[in-house]
Amino acid sequence: MPCEDCLSRREFLTRSTVAVAGAAALAAGCGDGQFGPTGLRQTNTGVSLKVASLPELATVGQLVKIPVQTGLIAVKRTGPASFAAISTVCTHQGCEVNINSGAFICPCHDARYDNNGRVTAQPVRTTGSATDLPTYTTRYDASTDILTIS
Ligand code: FES
Repeated sequence: MPCEDCLSRREFLTRSTVAVAGAAALAAGCGDGQFGPTGLRQTNTGVSLKVASLPELATVGQLVKIPVQTGLIAVKRTGPASFAAISTVCTHQGCEVNINSGAFICPCHDARYDNNGRVTAQPVRTTGSATDLPTYTTRYDASTDILTIS
């Protein structure tokens, strides 16, 4: 099924300076339930990915951003068969956080988060505060090497 929304997101990602794994998968796998060429599959309830298709996920603790229906999320391996998925939307005023040295930094007001999404520094030069980044439910099937995030 053609997906105009996916094409606009692909355009966005192409122009973005953020390194995003699997951007090309947006058009190929978007909304049709099939895995795209880079191992991502969007569904109505979340996203599934073939872990081996993202080399960053071979290393415990390394964060990688992946595209989902609502934007981007960060995924990291937490153990041999466990993963975490973390929102990349700053809880202060909604800017997209960057991954920097294994943690998150918000470019808008410099809020900082550790690699679990916990706040380590509040925004500066502004009012308001940040709370921990939301996380998503992950389920990993080692027999298929597929991680499902919902
Ligand atoms: S929006 Fe992220 S620190 Fe303000």
